[in-house]
Amino acid sequence: MVNVGAGAGSYEPAGTVVAVEPSPVMVAQRPAGAAPAVRAVAERLPFADDVFDAALAVLTTHHWSDPRTGLAELARVSARQVVLTWDQAFTAEHFWFLTDYLPEAAEREAGLAALTTVTEVWPDAEVRVLEVPHDCTDGFFAAYWRRPQAYLVPAVREAISGLALLDQDLVDDAIARLAADLADGSWGRRHADLLGHTSWDCGYRLVLH
Ligand SMILES: C[S@@+](CC[C@H](N)C(=O)[O-])C[C@H]1O[C@@H](n2cnc3c(N)ncnc32)[C@H](O)[C@@H]1O
Repeated sequence: MVNVGAGAGSYEPAGTVVAVEPSPVMVAQRPAGAAPAVRAVAERLPFADDVFDAALAVLTTHHWSDPRTGLAELARVSARQVVLTWDQAFTAEHFWFLTDYLPEAAEREAGLAALTTVTEVWPDAEVRVLEVPHDCTDGFFAAYWRRPQAYLVPAVREAISGLALLDQDLVDDAIARLAADLADGSWGRRHADLLGHTSWDCGYRLVLH
């Protein structure tokens, strides 16, 4: 299997043959013993046709300069493709952080290459819901769906590109309102149903092609 946009390899399955990652900073963070990494981009994979049984792309298509070409490249080099992305429309409607505090983040995300781009390229692909556990150890945007206090921590927000790339006055205003709602208990009353869930559909989707 080839892992494209592999980053530090956080989700890389054992048996990965090679990782593709353009950023030297990310490559340097790959642990000893991880699959070798090739410095390249999804849009121009340096491999012959059909050499891998599978290609994986985890939360990376929205970073690609030409996602459609990148997806075509995945399909060129591998028999099967698995892409983890998210459904922007679902997230904009169901994730409390966006609906209640920062709809501007949803507007920004609507323009990114996420689920709709992948399913436009592969209309016959299977799309599966990937629920996020309440104690998820990674720090992607919706990872803290049941731990709202986490968003008050600047270092947590800096690690979320969907927040870090927004106008920080808007983010600061949203965080101030969230802090107030947590302090007076209104967040807890409004979202009491979430506390009973151990995992939740935050909009992340696995696309199998
Ligand atoms: C959010 S990180 C995800 C990393 C890894 N897949 C994971 O889930 O931990 C997105 C990665 O995509 C990489 N990337 C950006 N542009 C790319 C491109 N055109 N082709 C492949 N990877 C790219 C970034 O350098 C970054 O490592």
